[in-house]
Amino acid sequence: MSKKNPKNIIADRKKEGIDLALKNTDALTKTTLFECVELLHCALPEVNFNDIKTSTKFLGHNFNFPFLIDSMTGGTPAAHKINARLAQAAEEFGIGMGVGSQRAGLLSNDLAQSFKVVRKNAPNAFIFSNIGGAQLSQGLDHKSIKKLLKMIDADALAIHLNPLQELVQPEGESNYSKVLSRIKELSSDLNVPIIVKEVGSGISPSVAKKLSKTKIGAINVAGMGGTSWAGIEQIRAKKFKNKQKSDLGLLFWDWGIPTAATISLTRSSTKTPIIASGGLRNGLDLAKSIALGADIGGYARPMLTPASKSYNSLTAFINQLILELKSTMFLIGAKNIRELKSTEYITTEPLTSWISKVKK
Ligand SMILES: Cc1cc2nc3c(=O)[nH]c(=O)nc-3n(C[C@H](O)[C@H](O)[C@H](O)COP(=O)(O)O)c2cc1C
Repeated sequence: MSKKNPKNIIADRKKEGIDLALKNTDALTKTTLFECVELLHCALPEVNFNDIKTSTKFLGHNFNFPFLIDSMTGGTPAAHKINARLAQAAEEFGIGMGVGSQRAGLLSNDLAQSFKVVRKNAPNAFIFSNIGGAQLSQGLDHKSIKKLLKMIDADALAIHLNPLQELVQPEGESNYSKVLSRIKELSSDLNVPIIVKEVGSGISPSVAKKLSKTKIGAINVAGMGGTSWAGIEQIRAKKFKNKQKSDLGLLFWDWGIPTAATISLTRSSTKTPIIASGGLRNGLDLAKSIALGADIGGYARPMLTPASKSYNSLTAFINQLILELKSTMFLIGAKNIRELKSTEYITTEPLTSWISKVKK
């Protein structure tokens, strides 16, 4: 059997990731715990719905709405059309967008095209690069990082922390020994801000504190309750008849800190700007995230599903999100994002325990 080129291995894996995420690989038995957050209803909003302001500033950029399209894809021909649509929407709505891991784009000029289309279609939007912590630990050099930033004229660099995914992935790389020191070094050296993100298991208070001692620009908590990468890799491991990894993926499918909890815990641990993501599925989840302490929200799979159909499906989804966010703001009497941030809310169990009883 002929040995596959690394570029094709990564491209195939990226395509499988898209296909499996489209089939819905969310958490199986646990949730984000957004259902344990209740924003207090205001019967007297004292604002005209049409005057509600949703604009905000994030990492020095103006956003028309407090959310972004989270890091997903690129590096496979199947991603080209999806990224082209996502970028067009980011530009039209004045929001941000992240591309998926650009490792494949470094290996081949062909595959770089599926990333480059993003800046082409979104000349003004806040667009950010992506690379894995594991690749940094393995020594990915500054020259390569500058190359991937240049590929999309990036406004920021997202570094993803995905230890669970690396463990379950049949070809995963679970050496995290130098990740924090590389984040420290890069956050001092690069001239764009760094966003450190999880991919669906959340950020704990001690990790938030360690990260806030570096010069990073933001933390994307990406908590548990949405897309499960242990789940996606479990299905792949099963397909490759790797029983050990497949069993591991089943056991850890729902591993992590629920999104509502990781937002609140991270906010109590650091002043670093926070992106809330992992299982945000509507505009009410976004409003709750901001009330809990996030600066903006991020959506991955909910953007992928309509973007894989048509541009109109994608804009219909985003317009609905905006309607849901503004409706929530109206119903709590918040005229702008600053007022949404300081709105009153209550929490119910088990979220109350999660955010008050983390013990050592
Ligand atoms: C198809 C797909 C590909 C993804 N690829 C990446 C990636 O390359 N880099 C990354 O940091 N996160 C990646 N993610 C993770 C998302 O950015 C996000 O953290 C996670 O999916 C949770 O959000 P969700 O529940 O809204 O999907 C990917 C998600 C999906 C659905």
